[in-house]
Amino acid sequence: MSDSQPDAIPAPFDVPTSARAYGWMLGGKDNYEVDRNFLLATLPSFPECVDIARQNRSFLYRAVRHLTRDAGIRQFIDMGCGLPTDDNVHQVAQRFAPDARVVYVDIDPIVLAHGKALLADDSTTAVIPGDMRDQREILDHPDVRRLIDFDEPVAVLFLSVVHHLTDADEPRRVLRTVIDQAAPGSYLGLSQVVADDPVRGAAMSEHISGGGVPWQTRTPAELDVFVADLEPVEPGLVNLVDWRPDPDQPPLAPVHEDLVPYLGATKTNRGIYEYGGLLRKP
Ligand SMILES: C[S@@+](CC[C@H](N)C(=O)[O-])C[C@H]1O[C@@H](n2cnc3c(N)ncnc32)[C@H](O)[C@@H]1O
Repeated sequence: MSDSQPDAIPAPFDVPTSARAYGWMLGGKDNYEVDRNFLLATLPSFPECVDIARQNRSFLYRAVRHLTRDAGIRQFIDMGCGLPTDDNVHQVAQRFAPDARVVYVDIDPIVLAHGKALLADDSTTAVIPGDMRDQREILDHPDVRRLIDFDEPVAVLFLSVVHHLTDADEPRRVLRTVIDQAAPGSYLGLSQVVADDPVRGAAMSEHISGGGVPWQTRTPAELDVFVADLEPVEPGLVNLVDWRPDPDQPPLAPVHEDLVPYLGATKTNRGIYEYGGLLRKP
């Protein structure tokens, strides 16, 4: 494990955080009233959020399974990994490839504290504090240097995190730093909340960032341009429910009763969804 001291960063309790609110939608318990109130105020306008979170997490399983079982990937950097839940990246990867190594990165001190507890004895897995906007600092971290061999293919995952980068954060630079210097045969995993209608997307951005969570909903086309020169793994970048759906994959934990009324909202509200997929560096 890292010797760094993630607990030294103060956790915000007066504003919601993405990790805690998202974790609640996945059935997690590590959240506070401020996170729950924020979500309950968001869902009447954007009821899709619960389905979207869960569809993204289900995609994570299928993507990591594909990368280890079918593509031979043995090392992962998971940017903005979120709170530990069932089937975290190292658990999925090591189920299909016991020698897989994973570095988790997150900016949220609660994620770091829980991740540290979960991974305490795992010499093949590390959780490090990091702001994905500072890719250089992440790449220079001793645990990244210890666990990741950049002469071999690596998968770098940005799952449900790119909407936390505004255009001022230079999302293309953030997404491309590792993959552009990685070995051929490396993969980029990518997903973010998109809106087909930019006006509705802007309303969502205003609501969520106004609540204290940095956020920019994009259109699918805005995401496509970041990765146009990489090889899409079939079926390409799509609504994640259409990315190799597998009804037999392990189910997620049930949601809290307050969120149950919102389950299934994406069946009727189709214009906002999680868009993404896997891309291979030729
Ligand atoms: C919606 S969760 C996604 C978690 C996980 N990647 C998944 O797909 O299940 C977004 C995560 O990104 C983290 N995050 C947001 N901005 C970040 C930043 N600038 N650097 C690193 N992590 C960030 C949040 O703390 C949160 O844990």
